[in-house]
Amino acid sequence: MKILVVGGGGREHAIIRALKQSPRCTEIWCAPGNGGISYDAHCKNIAATDVEAMVAFAQEEAFDYVVVAQDDPLALGMVDALAAVGIPAFGPNKAAARIEASKVFSKNLMKKYGIPTADYAVFDDPAQVLRYVEEKDRYPVVIKADGLALGKGVLICQDHAAAEAAVKEIMLDKKFGASGNHVVVEEFLTGPEVSVLSFCDGKTVKPMVSSMDHKRALDGDQGLNTGGMGTVAPNPYYTPEVADRCMREIFLPTVEAMQKEGCPFKGCLYFGLMLTPDGPKVIEYNCRFGDPETQVVLPLLESDLLTVMLATTDGTLAETGVSFRDGAAACVILASGGYPLSYEKGKEIAGLTLGQLPGRKDVTVYHAGTALRDGTLVTSGGRVLGVTATADTLPEALQRAYAACEEIHFDKLHKRSDIGARALAAMQ
Ligand code: AMP
Ligand code: GLY
Repeated sequence: MKILVVGGGGREHAIIRALKQSPRCTEIWCAPGNGGISYDAHCKNIAATDVEAMVAFAQEEAFDYVVVAQDDPLALGMVDALAAVGIPAFGPNKAAARIEASKVFSKNLMKKYGIPTADYAVFDDPAQVLRYVEEKDRYPVVIKADGLALGKGVLICQDHAAAEAAVKEIMLDKKFGASGNHVVVEEFLTGPEVSVLSFCDGKTVKPMVSSMDHKRALDGDQGLNTGGMGTVAPNPYYTPEVADRCMREIFLPTVEAMQKEGCPFKGCLYFGLMLTPDGPKVIEYNCRFGDPETQVVLPLLESDLLTVMLATTDGTLAETGVSFRDGAAACVILASGGYPLSYEKGKEIAGLTLGQLPGRKDVTVYHAGTALRDGTLVTSGGRVLGVTATADTLPEALQRAYAACEEIHFDKLHKRSDIGARALAAMQ
């Protein structure tokens, strides 16, 4: 099969590496891809959000299957547009992608079907938000833009002044554009967070190994929120008992709810969960693989990724085995100093051979923000590389990943030095 992966970050690189192991995959492309991905796939410079150009390219090259990995093309209906020209694709259609693209949609879905989540209210009038927050008088309070906002549309407000600032930023200054036309105001929950990615074919849901993201820029979960500075899998808080409860109370009801709403979910449904004192609750749904969760989940997948993906599209997931190997994986992100705010690009990356560390056993370097400049690998984004190691145990995986990071250098490199620390503490 000739396959196209839409996107160009570390997640897409991990998907490509896993797909290439399939005996059914004969040729693989990525659009737009990046410098490091070009060692593993043919890259075509089309923006992931350019639905028209992407569909035209897919027809021209006669791809057998397209994997749409990124949220915005899914929300724009790329899977529908590909289906319209007869090209099957991995991922939800536009209607089902609303589970991530509209927080109002997902919160109302959870309420209607009794799926545990934080209490909330929806507003389109800034003055009403502030009146509501004032009446409730419980801080912190969480204010979320309705639409996609690159993971930055969630503001945790410690007092009324912060809530005022959040409303101004989202609803008046429209920092996230039309995403801020509506906001969700939510109760603040506490407890360990768990990411569970799952394969869905509209009717059946098969969860993948659990993982833990590290969203803040600095050690000790300090600093600004980022796209994710590192991940580990499995997540030690996600015990078999918690997994059973999540399946009963969250995963199955969600898939059924989407079916009943007339928009069955196909693709990868990502459950962002918080294990609160009152039980597991949904913090957010994503309609796609997580980044950098994918970089620790797929290296532990034992089954053939392409076969499982095709089963989600065909509706045959119930008959398809999805298994993960024992052991653990850890991913440490090497970022450009200054990320998630401003940072410099074009720094030469030293230490890699064809984008990898061939001497290091069980280590893979996933490229997120790299470019090739006259054959030399340089930085081209905030998150530059994800260094993933697998091992029998989490301590070994972390040790391997951090040792590998020592071999890679670029000017102003920033990484967290405590990825996995909380997971290790939970295992004591
Ligand atoms: P989201 O983009 O919805 O995943 O939110 C980003 C982060 O904000 C989450 O990973 C949580 O750490 C935090 N968060 C979101 N909603 C809540 C909530 N209701 N209570 C506490 N923390 C939250
Ligand atoms: N790592 C969080 C996400 O992909 O949304």
